[in-house]
Amino acid sequence: MKGIIVYKGKYGTTHQYAGWLRNELDLHLAPAENCKKYQLELSDVIVIGSSIYTGKLLIGKWLKNNIDTLRNKKIFLFAVCGTPVSETKKLQTYLESSVPAELLHQCKVYFLPGRLVYKNLSWTDKLLLRMGAMLTKEPEAKNSMLAGYDNVKEENMDELVNDIKTFAGIKAEPVLQE
Ligand SMILES: Cc1cc2nc3c(=O)[nH]c(=O)nc-3n(C[C@H](O)[C@H](O)[C@H](O)COP(=O)(O)O)c2cc1C
Repeated sequence: MKGIIVYKGKYGTTHQYAGWLRNELDLHLAPAENCKKYQLELSDVIVIGSSIYTGKLLIGKWLKNNIDTLRNKKIFLFAVCGTPVSETKKLQTYLESSVPAELLHQCKVYFLPGRLVYKNLSWTDKLLLRMGAMLTKEPEAKNSMLAGYDNVKEENMDELVNDIKTFAGIKAEPVLQE
């Protein structure tokens, strides 16, 4: 069983989750921009990680660009978010706006709680967040957008790790690297 983890994030949360997964499953890890087509072709299982910004998965464009290679592959997709994972309807709309429908039905999806450290953000992200907070009616959501949060824990990945292990049946092998 050969596999790869491909990810796209901005401030390190998605990378941290992807790194934990790599250590647990011994799969090759590639930022989306460095992932080669042949690595996808060689993989029986593809784990895709992305954070969510303004209602979209950062990796959405990459998914569209690679749809032909991803078609008919077993895909586990984890999305890192600030929205509480209990808000399933809202999270589903994020998916539908970013993942091509024909890929979405072959993905097993997991939402993982994220981290936001306001002082580390670019000025555009600070501005976007302030605008988002102004438009948000719920006081709790508004406060966490401005004050930040850190809900990142390795055990958030337990279900994902177990499902991949079950799918692989045996210990997964990394795909060839250049
Ligand atoms: C400008 C901005 C917009 C965001 N928009 C969303 C959003 O629409 N929905 C959501 O659930 N989380 C949103 N988040 C939270 C991020 O998904 C969260 O901070 C995540 O941990 C970032 O992961 P990364 O460091 O791998 O990029 C936003 C964060 C920022 C800074």
